[in-house]
Parts: sequence; C-alpha cells; structure tokens
Amino acid sequence: PPLSRILSLADMQNVAKQVLSHKAFAYYSSASDDEITNQENARAFTRFFFKARVMRPVSQCDPSTTILGSFSSIPVFVSGAALAKLGHPDGEVNITRGCAQERIIQMVSSNASLSPNAIMEAADQSQTLFFQLYKHRNDEIAEKRVKEVEKLGYKAIFLTVDAIVAGNRERDIRSPWVLDEQEYGPVYHQPDEPKTPADANIFGTAGALIANDDRDMTWEKTIPWLRSVSKLPIVIKGIQCVEDAVLAAQAGVDGILLSNHGGRQLEYSLPPLEVLYAIRAEAPDVFNKLEVYIDGGIQRGTDVVKAVCLGARAVGLGRPFLYAQSAYGVEGVVKIIEILRREIITAMRLMGAASVHDLSPN
Ligand code: FNR
Repeated sequence: PPLSRILSLADMQNVAKQVLSHKAFAYYSSASDDEITNQENARAFTRFFFKARVMRPVSQCDPSTTILGSFSSIPVFVSGAALAKLGHPDGEVNITRGCAQERIIQMVSSNASLSPNAIMEAADQSQTLFFQLYKHRNDEIAEKRVKEVEKLGYKAIFLTVDAIVAGNRERDIRSPWVLDEQEYGPVYHQPDEPKTPADANIFGTAGALIANDDRDMTWEKTIPWLRSVSKLPIVIKGIQCVEDAVLAAQAGVDGILLSNHGGRQLEYSLPPLEVLYAIRAEAPDVFNKLEVYIDGGIQRGTDVVKAVCLGARAVGLGRPFLYAQSAYGVEGVVKIIEILRREIITAMRLMGAASVHDLSPN
C-alpha cells in the first residue's frame, strides 16, 4: 500500500509480514519458548494510566531530549538488532538515513549485516550513532572491536549482557536458512568467527551469531576492562531486575537499558516497564546516578510517554525499525518516527505537558 495508508506501527508490521521471506519474518518476530515475555512486554503498558492535567498551555510542545548528552528529537532511539539485510538489500543504512532525517539516535548491532565502517560512512556528520557490543570471549579481539568503533566516531558502547547463550526461538529454528549471500550479509564471514547458515540451522540464527561470546562476564572484571580500553560512555543493555540496576550504579557505568531482548532470551523475564516501576519504588537513587532506558514491546507514543513519566530518559525500539526498513526502506523508517512523534505530542498535550520535564511519576 502507499505509505500514506500506514497510520500506526502495527500497520507497518502488517506490510512487513507480507514483503518479508518466511525465514526473515520468523527471525525478526520470534521470541523464546511460548513467547509469553514478548507479549507481556507490550501488555505491561496497558496496566498504567495517565493522570491528565488540564488548563495548561500546550500550543508549544517540545518532546526533544538528550541521551548521554546527544540531542534526540523525541525520547526514542533505535535498539540494535541484527541482520537488517534480511529485510532490505540496503540493510542498516536505511535506518541510519531515516534517523539522520528525523534526528534520533541509532544503536548499531554487533551483528549488523553491514560493517560499523559502512554504516558510519552513510551517516551525516552531525549524526550520533551508538554501538552495541557483544563481547568476544577473547579479550584482544573484543578490544580491537571497541577501539575500531571508537575511532570511527561511535559515541557510546551498549554492552549486551542478557544473551550469553541464545534463547530458544522455535519459530526461527523451524525455518531453515537458504544459502543466499544477499540475505545474510558479511556477519557470517568474520575471520575469527567461522559461522555459517548451516550452524544457524542447528543452533538457531542467534545461536550461531553469538557462539563465540563471553559467558563469564562479571561486574568486577568486565566493566574495568571496558573502561581500560575505551573512553566512551558505557551502557549495560539487558538489566532485568532492581538488584542488578543497583550493582550497575555501583559499578559506575553511565546508563542501563532495562531490557529482556524483546522476549528473545529468558522466557518469563519481567517486562522492562515493571522493572522501571520497581526501581522507582525500591532504589530511586539509581535515577540520580545514571541514565535509565527501557526497550521491548513499545508500539505507541503513549508507551513512550509512560516510560518517561516513570523515569526513563528514553526508550528503544527494535523490531519496528527492522519492519519499517524492510517494507519501505528509508521512507518507512522516517514514517514510523513521524508517527511516534505525532502520537507523543498528542499524548503530552492532552495530559498538560509542554516538555519532557513536565513528565514525572506525579
Ligand atoms: C534483537 N536484539 C538484539 N540485541 C542486541 O543487543 N544485539 C543484537 O544483535 C540484537 N539482535 C536482534 C535481532 C532481532 C531480529 C530482534 C527482534 C532483536 C534485541 C533488541 O536490541 C531489543 O532489545 C529488542 O528488539 C526490543 O524489543 P522490541 O522493540 O523488538 O519489542
């Protein structure tokens, strides 16, 4: 359908389902086991309602914010998700160009189907990109990667800690890979990591992609190591409970992304919105020490506004960006950011908030 017919992120997903190969849709959409956590991530937002205030001036309404000091036109960023080329031949750079146009930040996956260099080359000079790190079990290989992306100009490292082994994604495993270079991109060809679609057919796509990652990361060892090899801000991606949020604050990192990997890792992990709420109740000092973000199941501007009210600096979206670039390339990416912006501004105005500073637990 023409892009003008796409009114919501759900509409975009419907188009993506039609244009994607069976394999691609299975890989993008699948989650662990019975996909309960994936569903609950979204459902958690239906349990929170607004206290709308009226008679407040909102003709000027500005939803912009900063994330780790970088401007963002709405409190939304792209959460790094692998293999964009499965959905569109231009892959991740569709997202890069859409983010440049709409001035939001893209976090690039360690398992992108394009190299960190190719993606940075497609970026505007003033554009901010973050890098999502899957830490290789060999510290020297991991250090090389971190130094490479820092030199290329990436502005933060999001260290993913919730995927030391792959979740059991049956819809992905059931759908076999076909040997098509165009589809899987260079990620399987990294010289130190011989991974083939044959591995993916046995272990699932994620199982093959993260086969060489470090399963023995700790607060004591891994954070000082990362600090010693890079000056970039560090965000821990995949915090799933209050206790670990407190440990992250004690470790002195710059941010935490409350996330269960879109329900793709531990089935019955808590929805991030619930964890955010629990941090406010049980350890509110965490919000003074670092920036807190959430991702998983965000579909609407009201979802974004709820998370910001409860203390999130910004929220990430994974699948919606993969779907948008698969369906319409750059224009699809621009479209879903526009939809989110319109929905966020409408919600803010109707609740009497003229800027993100007016959004509070109160
Ligand atoms: C992901 N995610 C992910 N996370 C990460 O740290 N590194 C990665 O390479 C990937 N790859 C990936 C592929 C696909 C197809 C999906 C759907 C997800 C997780 C991602 O960053 C994010 O946490 C979730 O996608 C958020 O949930 P929603 O927005 O997809 O519901």
